[in-house]
Amino acid sequence: MSERTLVLVKPDGVSKGLIGEVISRIENKGLSLVALELRTVANDIAEEHYAEHKDKPFFGELLEFITSGPVVAAVVEGPRAIEGFRQLAGATDPIKAATGSIRGDYALEVQNNIVHGSDSPESAEREIKLWFPNLS
Ligand code: PPS
Repeated sequence: MSERTLVLVKPDGVSKGLIGEVISRIENKGLSLVALELRTVANDIAEEHYAEHKDKPFFGELLEFITSGPVVAAVVEGPRAIEGFRQLAGATDPIKAATGSIRGDYALEVQNNIVHGSDSPESAEREIKLWFPNLS
């Protein structure tokens, strides 16, 4: 059964020239893109996107970072797309992420960790509606 997940190439991934690399890994894994857009994130969308972290000490920094430059937002589809992309991304902390994963290969810091992927079917549904409200 096919499912969808929201993927972001964060501002650090875009500025490091990793858009193509991330898309390639998604396609090589056998997942498909059903929406793809380069955009600058408005503060209200960023706040809603990270709402579950609003009480964390790093919330302010997280908003500042995600709104600091263009991101690529994508809806990725395929069997086990949510877990499949999280495997490609690797652990949130790049030092704990396996070599060969996107974060393991290209990042060092927990905030500047190149990509975001929805962490559950509920988050995926909420995030896809937030980023791509007109997608059917
Ligand atoms: S946590 O700590 O359980 O909330 O971590 P996690 O759910 O994996 O991370 C959520 C997002 O917050 C970012 N993050 C941080 N940013 C700055 N400083 C610190 N210490 C920090 N810890 C986590 C992390 O990059 C996650 O971003 P997304 O976009 O969800 O991957």
